[in-house]
Amino acid sequence: MKLAPSILAADFSRLGECIAEVEQAGADYLHIDVMDGHLVPNLSFGVPIIKSLRPHSKLVFDTHLMISQPHKYIEDFAKAGSDIITIHIESDSDIEYTIRKIHAFGKKAGLALNPDAPLERAMPYRGQIDMLLLMTVFAGFGGQKYLPEVNMKIEKAREMFGPDFDIEVDGGISVSNLQVPLGAGANVIVAGSAVFGAENPAAVVRAMKEMGK
Ligand code: DX5
Ligand code: ZN
Repeated sequence: MKLAPSILAADFSRLGECIAEVEQAGADYLHIDVMDGHLVPNLSFGVPIIKSLRPHSKLVFDTHLMISQPHKYIEDFAKAGSDIITIHIESDSDIEYTIRKIHAFGKKAGLALNPDAPLERAMPYRGQIDMLLLMTVFAGFGGQKYLPEVNMKIEKAREMFGPDFDIEVDGGISVSNLQVPLGAGANVIVAGSAVFGAENPAAVVRAMKEMGK
């Protein structure tokens, strides 16, 4: 299991410290939620934040683009230091073209599906993507409740994509329900408020990593 704390829930006035804390505690990825107020109703942050964090962390930068036209910004996010760039099936970009663009910059490509998008929509891209992101809440906000109806989709995806493929889940995951997506077959776990909303984020990272062993 790889753990990807989401900085959306961090204290932005001390972002560098927050990241160092989870990195030292054993986090694997840093999940970076970019929102454009269009694909999703919320706005977050963009390229400059990633660029300024890059020299301060060795974590895999897992950039989740919740934006309508990701193809226009792949170069910017790649050059800022993203390692994985995930785009939404619900975006307006040509998915295949955008995946190729991500690979052209030497980065891994992820494809994200909101809870209401059937797994079948990802199947044409199976041989092209490096990671599948199954949203366990509707993309747009941290701190929402895990949607158990996604469990079947995770199970099905694990079957279709095989044992070694990265299946990431995102939304509403904490120590108390981590076993649910893990049991269904997810192996990359995003956690925002569970980690950065906690009094002791490092302890939560250690606890979640322990559970994933
Ligand atoms: C939601 C984002 C998530 C969010 C998760 O649109 O994609 O990554 O930060 O936050 P929690 O873990 O609090 O649900
Ligand atoms: Zn996310």
